[in-house]
Amino acid sequence: MLTLSQRGRSGLQFLGSLQPYISSRVRDIARADFEADPEGAAMTAEYERGGSNEPWEDRIARARSIAQRSVAYKLERFYQRYVAEENFVRAIPAIEERRKAAEKIGFGKLSDCGGSLKLDENLPVPAYHEGVEWHLEPGGWDGYDLSGPMFMSAIHPYVMSKGGWAAVEVGEDVRHHRSNAAKLLPKDHYGRIYDMGCGGSMTLAAFHKHYPHAELIGGDLSAANVKNGNDSARAAGIPIHFRQCDVRHTGEPDNSVDAVVMYCVLHETPVSVGKDIIKEAFRILKPGGDVVINDLPPFAGVHPFQSVVLDWETDNRGEPYFSETCSTEWSEVLADTGFVDMESHNLGPQGYPWVDVATKPA
Ligand SMILES: C[S@@+](CC[C@H](N)C(=O)[O-])C[C@H]1O[C@@H](n2cnc3c(N)ncnc32)[C@H](O)[C@@H]1O
Repeated sequence: MLTLSQRGRSGLQFLGSLQPYISSRVRDIARADFEADPEGAAMTAEYERGGSNEPWEDRIARARSIAQRSVAYKLERFYQRYVAEENFVRAIPAIEERRKAAEKIGFGKLSDCGGSLKLDENLPVPAYHEGVEWHLEPGGWDGYDLSGPMFMSAIHPYVMSKGGWAAVEVGEDVRHHRSNAAKLLPKDHYGRIYDMGCGGSMTLAAFHKHYPHAELIGGDLSAANVKNGNDSARAAGIPIHFRQCDVRHTGEPDNSVDAVVMYCVLHETPVSVGKDIIKEAFRILKPGGDVVINDLPPFAGVHPFQSVVLDWETDNRGEPYFSETCSTEWSEVLADTGFVDMESHNLGPQGYPWVDVATKPA
């Protein structure tokens, strides 16, 4: 990991303290205000009784107007946006100060451990992805040539690893979530595991710990993400085959993989695209193969205040498909696609991570 200057580090540490504070102490006050409001109490009771059939847009609009009566809610959301922007305002200069070292060290000493990287410079960028500044990152996933060191040496260790952003609760580290997702696959051994929308290597590295003999393949649209993934996997000595591709068309033969993982890819696509990704998973899985999805909870599965918190991301933190995703029950899509033995549940207290596990009929 790159050593940042004291100024670069402390700027990020401040964000890494502010965010957990507002996402716990201040958000708790906002949630209590919601529940103390007569309409909020009625919505909470309705949720506890099993919800209503009201369209989710109307339900969220109602819950949002209640949440917005709370000063604590407004303050909490103001600081959420502030931290989301400041992450990049502070991390990019901190990395630029160390540009030479960042270019040289990258992810560390790279070994040739048997993985591979295939880029496709002619891959069309889907319209839903083009120009989106995910999480407010300038230029999106491919906007900054040192995005790998920026996340690995700056934003992740000092801010994101403390939790308290988007659906991630305070004190929760997304690295542990990935390991928990790996444990949910029902078999002890898998020959080939395909990670759809793999980003870098974090998810497959977690699966490697549980399935050290499995062949690992990761497909992602973003050239920067698969290049960073390839470097970090090589630095860790984990053989992963990275492919720059649209995972609606992986190019893998029919019935050729034993397990598919989708870790937080579905909320970065419109639901129609997510359905196509699930169809492709079904095609490439061998009969009897398993899929594990880790993503956002459905609105129906969370407290109305939490649904406002999740919906907020859509317009305010570079997550244009968050609400669409939360309005969807992936278990129903899995069933419609032909999967069986569906299991869906939350792993965290506020609904996130939400996991769906299913099997292609043998
Ligand atoms: C939030 S990131 C998650 C990355 C990774 N799964 C992880 O666990 O860190 C979502 C990823 O989905 C990728 N993505 C979105 N649509 C895709 C598609 N149609 N095909 C391949 N990758 C896609 C994005 O490029 C991005 O890297």
